[in-house]
Amino acid sequence: MLYDVLEGLSGRQKTLPSRLLYDARGSDLFEDITVLPEYYPTRTERAILTEAAPDLSRRIGAGAVLVEYGAGAWVKTRILLDALEAPAGYVPIDVSDDMLAKTKPLLQQDYPDLPIHPVVGNFLVPPPLPDIDPRARRVGFFPGSTIGNLDDADIETFLAGAAEELGPDGLLVLGVDLKKSPDILIPAYDDAQGVTADFNRNLLVRINRELGADFNLDAFRHEARWNEAESRMEMHLVSLADQSVTIGGRRFDFAAGETIHTENSRKFDQAQIERLLAASPWQISHDYRDSKDLFSVLLLERK
Ligand code: TRP
Repeated sequence: MLYDVLEGLSGRQKTLPSRLLYDARGSDLFEDITVLPEYYPTRTERAILTEAAPDLSRRIGAGAVLVEYGAGAWVKTRILLDALEAPAGYVPIDVSDDMLAKTKPLLQQDYPDLPIHPVVGNFLVPPPLPDIDPRARRVGFFPGSTIGNLDDADIETFLAGAAEELGPDGLLVLGVDLKKSPDILIPAYDDAQGVTADFNRNLLVRINRELGADFNLDAFRHEARWNEAESRMEMHLVSLADQSVTIGGRRFDFAAGETIHTENSRKFDQAQIERLLAASPWQISHDYRDSKDLFSVLLLERK
């Protein structure tokens, strides 16, 4: 972690690894974000899934194993599990074994007969699946437009790895946030209550705590920018003054107005979706959307 932080702060555009956003406090703050009035993605995707569930279930068929890339979207997972006919297993893959260990018993209570096999690992490098019936159809689930937090190379790696792991008969349910007006996007990433700002600044809190850094939290402001050329929301922390910060014995200087780029959230149009899929082993079997075209849930099948 120290190495990644030092490296990120050493570039001309300073960056910090976005995975560091999700410590215990960050995960709680993100939960709060998902219910903000401005943050449309979670509730829109949930509504699409609820409406699509019977059709998805029919297309998937009985006895499938659900493999979730990243865990924590339990409300959405339950929509699928409730709709699936006699699911043969559920495999949540997440880097946080804490999160997996904490939530498995909760889910197991509600699905007493469902074999749940958490796997600790990074879904970009799909870890081997546990001992599950090799004849069962495997259905991947990658909700929340987390794919929009990845760059092209990582998307390609992920889609290829998932195809390999899910097999020739595999399916992938993929949540994709769609391109829309910055008038909707900017508030979604810079809410009136300041929860998103706290979430972003929590990165600095964490680095202070875990790496003994001395970021002055009042001297950095959250900023959500729309980058039209890259079709993405960018999260930055803006230095409010000329200042320096010491981490691991190294000093980093910030000019007033200089930013640390902390996360990207890409917003896709049809052409971009098609371009990414063209470079992958997947094709669209069905595209489920809300009536305002805010968000898309794609059912992908192998080419
Ligand atoms: N996957 C979420 C998204 O891209 C993550 C997110 C929401 C986020 N709000 C944020 C990341 C604010 C950094 C800052 O929509």
